[in-house]
Amino acid sequence: MTSAPSAAQTGNGGPATEEFPDHIAIIMDGNGRWANGRGLPRAVGHERGVEALRRTVEAAQEIGLKTLTVYSFSTENWRRPVSEVNALFGLLKAYVKRDLNRLAQEGVKIRILGTRQGLPDDILELVKRAEDRTADNDAFNLCIAFNYGGREEVLRAAKAMASAVEEGRTSASEVDEAAFSEFLDTGGLPDPDILIRTSGEYRLSNFLIWQAAYAELVFMDVLWPDFGKHHLLEAVETYRKRERRFGGLSSGAA
Ligand code: FPP
Repeated sequence: MTSAPSAAQTGNGGPATEEFPDHIAIIMDGNGRWANGRGLPRAVGHERGVEALRRTVEAAQEIGLKTLTVYSFSTENWRRPVSEVNALFGLLKAYVKRDLNRLAQEGVKIRILGTRQGLPDDILELVKRAEDRTADNDAFNLCIAFNYGGREEVLRAAKAMASAVEEGRTSASEVDEAAFSEFLDTGGLPDPDILIRTSGEYRLSNFLIWQAAYAELVFMDVLWPDFGKHHLLEAVETYRKRERRFGGLSSGAA
């Protein structure tokens, strides 16, 4: 069960945004605890996590979101036991193999965020297949952060930008925030309006550190495998009750 949002989570005293979000990003946390609590192997928690992901993608499409970004394997997750790393790789493969056709037919564009370095050939081939197959779709963006770390992404983008300057494709004076964003794995996508983290942890864990600069953070007590449409709607409602100021003043406060 999700705890009721606290006053600090729902509002900051100003007028609510009332706007509907375009892009929600989720740190899908709590698979291990979900499994431990049931005396099951952690891998079972991750399997149930994939089912929650399926439900959430469907719900996101139903409620009219344009983009969903999920954190499914971080560059730090390599520190986990090999068996767990293999389980997560296997789940990505199974997810793409099982869902790619349907997602492609539904107009979903799949993008895998993160570095390709260190990924085995079969995963690389699958990632390419998923991205190529859905490249021309535009009904919904599903971004899966896999082998992803925010600092690594920003650094890679900075290097790509430096190469572009060296090769004369752009100049340092031309680079502003919008131009730099294009070098990120999320280039061309809007920043997330909401960043949800499940399982009651309060960290960003190196997720979308550039893109989430102005995201509304929503922390929920539910463990990821139990996440469903009503949690997504609850996060949207929390967001709509907040006032987004982007560093400015509340309307009427000046
Ligand atoms: C965090 O829970 C979750 C992950 C590290 C992986 C998330 C992966 C999935 C939801 C399934 C994989 C989906 C695809 C498409 C590959 P945790 O293991 O850290 O849980 P804990 O904090 O309770 O131990």
